[in-house]
Amino acid sequence: MKLLAGQTAIVTGGGQGIGKGIAIELAKAGCNLIIAQRNQKHADQVVAEIKSLGKDALAIKLDVTDSTSVNNCIVTALTFAPKIDILVNNAGIMQSEIGSDISEESFDQCYQVNVKGLWRMNKALANHFQTHENGKIINISSIGGREPDASFPIYCASKAAVLSLTKSLAHELGPYNINVNALCPGTVVTPMWETVESLTSKGQPNDQITAYSSSINSSAIKRSQSPKDVGYAAVFLASPLARNITGQALNVDGGQIMS
Ligand SMILES: NC(=O)c1ccc[n+]([C@@H]2O[C@H](COP(=O)([O-])OP(=O)(O)OC[C@H]3O[C@@H](n4cnc5c(N)ncnc54)[C@H](O)[C@@H]3O)[C@@H](O)[C@H]2O)c1
Repeated sequence: MKLLAGQTAIVTGGGQGIGKGIAIELAKAGCNLIIAQRNQKHADQVVAEIKSLGKDALAIKLDVTDSTSVNNCIVTALTFAPKIDILVNNAGIMQSEIGSDISEESFDQCYQVNVKGLWRMNKALANHFQTHENGKIINISSIGGREPDASFPIYCASKAAVLSLTKSLAHELGPYNINVNALCPGTVVTPMWETVESLTSKGQPNDQITAYSSSINSSAIKRSQSPKDVGYAAVFLASPLARNITGQALNVDGGQIMS
């Protein structure tokens, strides 16, 4: 019997990168999937991959910065599966300028997606989970949310806010048998990392390699993690094995940081 047999999960931003890795591992563990994503083409590709694994999946267009889009997503999701068991809030963006040299517009955009978008999704599904007295929420933070980096202060602050919201929500929903936890990935090579590289390199191609390799060298295990590694941790937190774990944050970073 698979760990998550018969369950249904929503993964926001599940069409690429870490979200895709999480969605595929949840499907391998027995879940049906809803890939809620801005880019429909990417979502359709992941849906096809999940179906080839023998699980059912649906792509829904979602913009977490728009409450109408969030509510429509939940309505459509509930026509696909009358009971949702797992929500993975993975959609996120990197700030668009380096250091504290960030515009108010970029600051707001980063918070709109990483903090308010995640809060919107949690709010939209909380009633459903409470009605069923069952639910697992996994918020994707970052090791930057634990130990801020001077290059990306607003992104790191947004990920620290995710950790705080995770604990508050765990307190609020715990009495309804709902677990709320966070994952803090270290460096994972995804399209977002390309943004990091291009910001840090400032047009000097050699620095791109330096920025990436220095993050690997700072880890205890000396290898980068893949979206699959984050997926394994998500499967654990979504499973009955983690039924008494809530309000926690787990680093998936090969020991890049140890707090
Ligand atoms: N890559 C890393 O090194 C790393 C490290 C720590 C944490 N993270 C976090 O992991 C998560 C996934 O990042 P990734 O590296 O796979 O990045 P990515 O850029 O490859 O994927 C981000 C996903 O979020 C979606 N998204 C962005 N804005 C959205 C919106 N308004 N509405 C709906 N979807 C939206 C994108 O379409 C995309 O699918 C993010 O929350 C990120 O902050 C990434």
